[in-house]
This record gives sequence, C-alpha cells and structure tokens, in this order.
Amino acid sequence: MKYSKIMLGAALIGATASTIFAQETLRSLAEERGRYIGAILNSEWFNNAIESQFEEIHKTQFNAVVAENEMKFDATEPNKGQFSYAKGDKMVTYAKANKMRVRGHALAWHSQVPGWVNNIRDKKQLLDVLKNHIDNVVGHWKGEVAEWDVVNEAINDDNNHGWRSNGSVWFQTIGAEFLDSAFVWAHAADPDAELCYNDYAIEWGLGQGSKAGFVVDQVKRWKQNNIPITCVGTQTHIEISHETTPQNVRALAKALAEHDVVLNITELDVGFPQGSAGSLGASDYAKQGHLYRQFMDVFLEEPNMGEFMIWGVTDAHSWLDGQQGKTQGLIYDKQYKAKPAYDSLIASLKAHPASEVKSPYKSAATPDTTVQDTTTQDTSAHDTTAVQDTTVKDTTTQDTVATPGPVVSDTGNVGIRRGSATLTEVRMNLVGRTLSIVGASNAKVQVFDMRGRPVYSAVTSKGSVDLSAISDGLYVVRVKVGSKTLERRVALR
Ligand code: XIL
Repeated sequence: MKYSKIMLGAALIGATASTIFAQETLRSLAEERGRYIGAILNSEWFNNAIESQFEEIHKTQFNAVVAENEMKFDATEPNKGQFSYAKGDKMVTYAKANKMRVRGHALAWHSQVPGWVNNIRDKKQLLDVLKNHIDNVVGHWKGEVAEWDVVNEAINDDNNHGWRSNGSVWFQTIGAEFLDSAFVWAHAADPDAELCYNDYAIEWGLGQGSKAGFVVDQVKRWKQNNIPITCVGTQTHIEISHETTPQNVRALAKALAEHDVVLNITELDVGFPQGSAGSLGASDYAKQGHLYRQFMDVFLEEPNMGEFMIWGVTDAHSWLDGQQGKTQGLIYDKQYKAKPAYDSLIASLKAHPASEVKSPYKSAATPDTTVQDTTTQDTSAHDTTAVQDTTVKDTTTQDTVATPGPVVSDTGNVGIRRGSATLTEVRMNLVGRTLSIVGASNAKVQVFDMRGRPVYSAVTSKGSVDLSAISDGLYVVRVKVGSKTLERRVALR
C-alpha cells in the first residue's frame, strides 16, 4: 500500500486547479463505465475556423475523436505516393493531450477518392494502390489510431443482398476481394488496431434483404476465414421519425455478439426535416432527446458495444443542413447551448450504474493510467459485482431536464446536479486527502475503485474523513447523508 507522505492534493480529472469537483460530464460518466463517447472534429476545427467553445466542449464532454474528412483517402494521399498527414497528426496530438481514443475514418470507401485512383482500370495496379495506401496510412498512425474503419459503405442500397457496384472503383476494378484484402493489410500494418466494417442503414433492422442481415452474413464468413475484423460501425444518421432504430441497433448488437464482434455507433445524428426548422418547439427537442437516450440505453446494456460517436458537436456545424436536407440533429444548438438530448444522455448514463455496464475492451476506457494496484486495499469483496447500488438515489432520470450549466460555486465546489435541481445543501470537498462533507456532520463515506470494488468505508460524525491510506489512482467516492447520496469520481494523487 502506498501512503502519500506529502499531501499532494486531489482533483477530479478535467478540473481546473481551483475546482475541486468538476461537473459530471458525458465523458466522466462514460469513463466510469469503461465506454467511449465521442464526436467528430469538424473540418472547420482543422482549419482553425471554429468558435473557441467548440474545442472546450469537445475535450470536456468526449473521450473519443474522429476526423470529419481529414483521414479519408483524398485527404491522406491526394497524389499517388504523396502522403499528407499534417491534419491527421494535428488530431492525434490533440487526442493525446486530452487522453482521447482515436478512430481512423476511412481506408477503403467509394467516396472521397482522388481522381487518380478513380481512373485506374487495372486490377493488379489498383490492388497495389490500396495495399500501399493502407501500409502507409495505418503504419504512420500505428499505435495511435485505436480503431480503423477499414471499409466504409460497401453494400448496395437496393435490398438485394449485394456489394455496391455503382460508383465504386474498388468493387468495379477489383471485385469483392478488395474487402478481405483491406482487412488483412490493415491488420498487418497495425496488429493491435481494432478493425471495423462501417455502413449506413444497417440500423434499419435485420429483415429479409436487409443491409444489416448481409453484414452479419459477411461477418460470419470473415470470422470463419480468419479475416481480422473486430467491429462493425453502424453510422446511424437517422430522422426524428425513426422510432424503432434503437431497438434495431440492439438486435444487430446481439447478432454480432454471436460472432464475437463489437458494434459501435459511429456517426449518430437525429435530424429534423429541413423545412421544419422554424417551427421546432420543446416537445420536438424532447422527442429528439428521447431517441438519443434510447440509443444510449441500448449502448450501455449491450456488452459488445464500445463507442458512441456523434457526427458533430453543434448544430452550427453539421453536414445535415448542406448535404442531407435535414437539420438540428446534434446535442448542442447553434449557440453551443446543450439541448435536451444532452440531458437525456446524462440521464441514461446515470441510470446505468458502472457496476452493471460491461466493457468490450480488455482495459477500461479510463484514459488515466494512474489506476493501478488497487487490489492491496480492502479485499473483502471477492467479485466485481459486489457493488450493485451505485445509483444516486435522488437522481431525476427523465429526459426533459433543463439545459445543464456548470454549477460551480465561487468557492470552486460543485453541487450535484439532479435533473434541473441542484443539491447545494450538502457537498463534498476534497483538499489533499481530507474529504469534508459540507453541510452535514454525520455521513457514511465509501470509496470504490474503478471496477466497483470497495476500498474504503467509514462513518463519520465530524463531517470529514481522512483518505490518506488509499493508493494513488482513480476512485468513485460515495457519501450518504440521510437519504441523500452524492457520488463523485476523484483522482487521488
Ligand atoms: C461527410 C462529411 O461530414 C462531409 O463534410 C463531407 O462533405 C462528406 O462526408 N458517412 C460517412 C462520413 O462515412 O464520412 C460522411 O461525412 C457522412 C456519411
């Protein structure tokens, strides 16, 4: 057991020096659950043409990142053999600085392919081009891009169980074998990267002739043939009227689980028809929030789901308006104000205690590597399911809570936001290794490691406890005062 002789202080990850407890974020809640929640970096970010709030929100709320356009074929190899990595590198640097997981999007796709590739008509030549592209691009970001969309959108749209032929240079010139080859080459270039097949409209159900059914068949074939696929991405660009899609995603996750393949939501947006833009009201946004929440419920409940990626942060920057005839599909509005969808995601996360959410990854999503050696503490709990009750008792979990705002008081403490209400009467406050309960002297304090195992428990009547005996690392602190329960994730250093 490691004792810290000097009171080094403790801070919640992401908190500023003066803030002892930061607001709960999508990111902090996802990390406690061993999952990733992310959003694209829009092209405007890469071009330094985006509002300053964008990055602030992005790195606070998300722990996974993907480039809107900057890792596509035309961006990374605009001319034969001339690779352009500067923008992708910028994202990787940002992700590292903020401890985020990087998705690479996308290696073999019929769209956003440069003209010099589209003009190739010789199979052998195009196979060489694809292999060289994958070797170089995956090799360049080896160990830095955790997961690649190896093939994107390769299935046709006509309910005909087939590969896309129209408009795909890959299929037309090489044939279906381009897919298998792409996975094999990507695996050779980075054996540790997760490798996905990504597509749209596979969240439309597994019915006869469906794209989803075709994907599952191919996954089965790939696994049987040792083609190194590890994940499927369902893009999930949907409309407000698509009420059954969350359950379709659940069915797809279950079908893929049978083949030991992860399902990720990779490009979520829930758009309204463009024409309705002027007339949208509170009930419309509540409905949108409800859909977002259902996707998050499914995501947390299915053990083979790992990433929940949204195709944008703010409605001010979204491909929906310019290219899809849709609008307002994201979780922040054009002024960067969180919409009901944001609260719905928070509510869903909080309704699924960390102890009950499984992670498909060997190591949890917690990017802070200081979580180590927590086993030397209290060993009375033999299994990780021992801590079941991590729900915060007075949480309001309905979808329509008010727009969140930080509830940081001027002392730097943060109240516990419960729906639209803030419990300001009881707070916890950590200074060094001393945890004070502000507003109450009798309290039960429990500390759990990130796998939910209890490492400390005490009842105090003097309004504070000393946590010096706990090793450095990330923990969840739970304070019970009467019927109220407060919960915080803290890093003890
Ligand atoms: C979109 C980008 O958002 C746009 O900026 C670009 O003009 C076109 O591509 N499916 C995908 C993404 O896999 O790469 C697409 O991104 C959206 C649909």
